[in-house]
Amino acid sequence: MNEAIQPGLGNVQQAIGLPDLSVVVPTFNECDNVAKLYRKLEAALKGIVWEVIFVDDNSPDKTWEVVRDLAQHDGRVRCVRRIGRRGLSGACIEGILASSAPFAAVMDADLQHDETQLPKMLALLQSGQAELVVGSRYVEGGSADSFDSKRAGFSAFATGFAKRMLGVAIADPMSGFFMVRRDKFEQLAPKLSTQGFKILLDVVATAHGELKTVEVPFTFGSRLHGESKLDSMVALDFLGLVLAKFTNDVISLRFLLFAMVGGTGLFVHLGTLFVALTVLNWPFAEAQAAGALTAMTTNFILNNFLTYRDQRLKGFAILRGLLAFYLVCSVGLLANVGVAFSVYDQEPIWWLAGAAGAMMGVVWNYAMSGLFVWRKR
Ligand code: GDD
Ligand code: MN
Repeated sequence: MNEAIQPGLGNVQQAIGLPDLSVVVPTFNECDNVAKLYRKLEAALKGIVWEVIFVDDNSPDKTWEVVRDLAQHDGRVRCVRRIGRRGLSGACIEGILASSAPFAAVMDADLQHDETQLPKMLALLQSGQAELVVGSRYVEGGSADSFDSKRAGFSAFATGFAKRMLGVAIADPMSGFFMVRRDKFEQLAPKLSTQGFKILLDVVATAHGELKTVEVPFTFGSRLHGESKLDSMVALDFLGLVLAKFTNDVISLRFLLFAMVGGTGLFVHLGTLFVALTVLNWPFAEAQAAGALTAMTTNFILNNFLTYRDQRLKGFAILRGLLAFYLVCSVGLLANVGVAFSVYDQEPIWWLAGAAGAMMGVVWNYAMSGLFVWRKR
């Protein structure tokens, strides 16, 4: 054992320079921003022992290379480079779990969050006044002037919706700027969704009001370089998270998306069947098979873009995945018919039997797709 980490050496904290604060910065294509942020942290955190962990999802602009360069000059800087994964929430979670300070902050790399608030936030945690401190745009003194009216409107609507649905009490549960006691976070971590981007909302909803929370106002600035990574898909992610939390995680975000995609498949199937029968004059069996095949294909494509966005198959893997998906769904169809049949046998109510079969089918397809089509590397 290294001498310095042997217990009983007195002030170990100082001897090996354990940080008081870990700043976690998720990055995707932020190569022009990270060095500036690092310098700003250095200025803002004078007198505090700190570390910064950048969690980069293998950015095409090689942000990780810039971070590695910083890390070679300053041991307080670290880079977690994730390969084959995407997602803001997942990156924040991994960053916090990789940190060693008793308190961890999360902030954007693009200087939209006000790093000069960090000492104040840390003091609130250290004094025990709070277990979670949120940098808030929506309390007295805070603002989000840099938002255009469309985004401001969406943000306000989503905030109100989430607060009502989940009984969240804070003013800005959508903020991407917060600081938390690491031990408390670690307790919650296994229940958090790695998909999506609303990590704070997830933390607050999962904690069920058990985290003593204080909000400090700050002004949400304009992004320095590059562009926002939040696209139109975030609305869907957000709805999924609210529903999942609303059902106490009985229904996961991924399952919901999968089932929704399955629902669209029904329309694709019927549409194809209709065209094949009436326009192409195909016999019913062929038309039905074409419908099923088309629906499976569009389901696969949608799931690859939506449900498994963070594990999207690319290149040759798409073909392999599609074939595996056909196979999974074919067995799913047998399971569907089997269950429907046995329900109908006992209780000849057509819609009950049909629904039970469909339920069996979607659960089977979901479970098996996770294992054989979009399996975690
Ligand atoms: N590792 C990783 N993986 N980082 C990501 C990813 C990802 O998939 N997507 C985005 N990031 C990083 C960005 O590089 C940036 O540092 C930070 O996460 C936030 O992304 P932005 O693209 O800057 O988002 P924004 O400024 O539009 O949204 C901000 O405000 C929202 C509130 O309106 C973020 O702070 C959100 O978290 C926040 O909810
Ligand atoms: Mn940003």
